[in-house]
Formats: sequence, C-alpha cells, structure tokens
Amino acid sequence: MAKRLVIGNWKMNPETFEAAKAVARKTRAISAKLCNTDVVVCPPFPFIAACVSRSQPPAFHIGAQTVSLEEGGAHTGEVSAKTLQSLNVEFVIAGHSEARAAGDTDETVSRKIGRIVEAGMIAVVCVGEKTRDENGSHLDFLKKQIRKTFAGISPDKTKRVILAYEPIWAIGAKEAMAPEQVYEMSLFVKKVFADIFGHEAGHKVRVLYGGSVNFRNAGDIIKVGRVDGLLVGRESVNMPGFKELIRAVDAIG
Ligand code: PGA
Repeated sequence: MAKRLVIGNWKMNPETFEAAKAVARKTRAISAKLCNTDVVVCPPFPFIAACVSRSQPPAFHIGAQTVSLEEGGAHTGEVSAKTLQSLNVEFVIAGHSEARAAGDTDETVSRKIGRIVEAGMIAVVCVGEKTRDENGSHLDFLKKQIRKTFAGISPDKTKRVILAYEPIWAIGAKEAMAPEQVYEMSLFVKKVFADIFGHEAGHKVRVLYGGSVNFRNAGDIIKVGRVDGLLVGRESVNMPGFKELIRAVDAIG
C-alpha cells in the first residue's frame, strides 16, 4: 500500500528565519520515526534552503507554496520551477484558493502545473468549492474547475499530479468537513479526473483533503474519508499539534 502523505502549507508562517529552522528541525525529527507516512513541508520561499538538511530522513520532503508560470527571464519577484527544483523541492502547490483569490485563474494554474511537472516535481493541485447547496451546484462548479484547471495538461503528466480537495468554506475555519462527506467528495473528484484522463489515471491519482485539519480530526478524515493524505495549514506550524497529527496518521497503518 502506498504511504500516506501529510503536506504542511506554512503560508506566511513562521515570521522569522530562526523559528522556521526550528519548525523544520522538529518536523524532520518526527519524520525519522514514521513507517507509513511521508511528510512534506512547504515553507515561504526564503526559508526553503534552510529547511533542507544533509541528514534528512527519507520520509521528510520539501515543497513550495507556488511557482511562477514563466519559465525564466525578466519577471521581477517571480521564482521559477527550475530554481525550486535546484533547491531540492519535490512538491509544489498550485491553485490554492488563496492564490486563486489573489489572481490565479484556472488557465494560469494549468500553466503552473505544466512548469512544475516539466521540471520533474509533483504538482499538488488544489480544487474546491466556495459554498455548498442542496441542489448540488457545488458539484457542477468543481467539475468545471477541474476540467479547466487540467485543460492544458497531457495524460502522460498525470503521474506527477496530486489532487488536494479543499472546500474553501472549511479553510481557516473552526471545523473540517465531516469525514463521510470527505469520502463522497474524494470519489467525485477522482471520477471527474477519470472522465478527463481515463480510468487508470483516475484510479491512480492521489487525493488529499485540506481545510481545518488538526490532530483531533486527522485520523478520522483518513480512516472514514479514505483519502491518501492531508494538506494542513495552521496545524503544520503548531508543533505539539502537528506531531500528534502525523503520529495519528502513521498509526492507522
Ligand atoms: P487550514 O488551511 O488547515 O489552516 O484550514 C488549509 C490550507 O489552506 O491548505
């Protein structure tokens, strides 16, 4: 059975270099004891190099929160996929709802996915609805969002794609989505992916859940929600909590 994946999206946290090194060090120490789980930390860009260590446990990986859609050249403030790859980054988040709210469109997310996979890294592609209603309009929204986000991607690239289902209403909220609903929604996004790229790609693609995951709910979201892993925001920089979260996931076996 494939290992589960716990990805920590640090966002703009912590504020200082020293604090970032401490979070990375502690996360590495936890990762050294895992059997069934891989852990990825996604620090702010300036902290990435400091989070890489020579004596890194195999279960500990480095990710980035975004990437430029440009290959390189004169683009002030941008960071290219090749630069990230040269820093030992293996995973890059694309299409996070906060990045979408700040201007990323389905089309730009699609181009970013292209850059990430061309550079040999794995794209963690976030999708999710803003609201839900009884008529199921969120399902139509998601279907369209997934179709448009993957419009420019060729089927051979899907091996390097992970889907992160993150209902926007559950991000930064008090409660996560109920695990039973996570299960339903993960099946739905897999089905939409299979409709685009074929049965095998849909079967193989890993689906993560994100949105208010903490050490209390992580185990049930994996067990009942039957997802392949978690995309964790706040709790990933909250050390006692993240340690418990990872342990709970690893203990599921
Ligand atoms: P949260 O963030 O865990 O703080 O809700 C999740 C995310 O935005 O990926």
